[in-house]
Amino acid sequence: MLIQKEIDLQDKHSFHCPVKTEYWVEYDSIEELQQILREANDFGLPIMPIGGGCNLLFCRDYEGILLHSCIKDWSLLEEDEKSVLLQVGAGLNWDEWVALSIEKGWCGLQNLSGIPGEVGASPVQNIGAYGVEAKDCIESVMVLDRETLACETKLAQDCAFGYRMSRFKQDWKDRHIVCYVNYRLSKDASFCLDYGQLKEEVQKLGEPSLKNVRQAVLTIRNSKLPDPDKLGNAGSFFKNPCIDMAHYQSILNDYPDIPAWPQNDGSVKISAAWMIDRCGWKGYREGDAGVCETQALVLVNHGQASGEDILHLYEKIADSVEEKFRVKLQPEVVVLK
Ligand code: EPU
Repeated sequence: MLIQKEIDLQDKHSFHCPVKTEYWVEYDSIEELQQILREANDFGLPIMPIGGGCNLLFCRDYEGILLHSCIKDWSLLEEDEKSVLLQVGAGLNWDEWVALSIEKGWCGLQNLSGIPGEVGASPVQNIGAYGVEAKDCIESVMVLDRETLACETKLAQDCAFGYRMSRFKQDWKDRHIVCYVNYRLSKDASFCLDYGQLKEEVQKLGEPSLKNVRQAVLTIRNSKLPDPDKLGNAGSFFKNPCIDMAHYQSILNDYPDIPAWPQNDGSVKISAAWMIDRCGWKGYREGDAGVCETQALVLVNHGQASGEDILHLYEKIADSVEEKFRVKLQPEVVVLK
């Protein structure tokens, strides 16, 4: 267990904004987490679990306790002819876990290669990329109830997973801390290559295989998404908005080439990056806050931008998109104002 006071958060979140936390606490086991919560609940300070800090914008110092999981172990819970069930610690680096699963020949997570952050965030955010979402492989999530301090297993079907959404961000918000995530991965290879230029990128490497799909995804990501260790960012700052069909048709009349993906519920998801790009924001910079040159959805910190600077830029972009396309963009990143 590690307890630190008044800690600089610049290297603990991927935007690298100059902020502090009152307390930074790391735990290595569920028992340690229970002990911390027992004491922290008496303190009456706000508590927030934080993983890699890859989807967070701090607009001010955090006046409370940031709890970071160092539970990084994994184990094989079940195995049959077709699949394996793995229990993976919330504190394990996400891409290390994906690489390990591919090394073992387990299929399911290859399209999610290269996503920054840690395993614990995968069910909360239902992380996704290249046509696959974490929910496609999550069987259940082991959480600790923050009040009762009891461990519970939440089945995937009860988590209401949606596009970058789950109950952990809605009615279960602030109630649980994710300790382990249980993934069901397949022993048979089957590939989802229909997103963007993924198929072509895989073909350049040869036959589809777990390793080739991972490599192709990493190549595409590296060509568009800035490395947060070199240029502060939190991936897509905006969500792709889902709008109703009538609204989509009216936009389509004016902008026939807007990328769109019909959803099962009859709505249409449209590309926020494309709209932001059409409003002329790509590569824009205001002080140290900017818009990525290769992917308009990504806001970047060129050096010493504050959370407020980034938020201000977000608001300007959202306003201009609303004015041009009559669509209100929402942040994908969690903004702590
Ligand atoms: N586009 C533009 N301008 C740009 C970028 C993209 O016009 O600057 C167009 C592209 O031409 C393409 C469309 O927008 O037709 C979609 O672009 P892309 O494939 O890059 O995907 P995205 O919708 O912008 C989403 C996720 C990413 C994920 C990619 C690939 C969200 C909010 N973002 O981006 O996730 O990597 O798809 O699956 O859903 C993240 O969540 O942090 C993230 C990076």
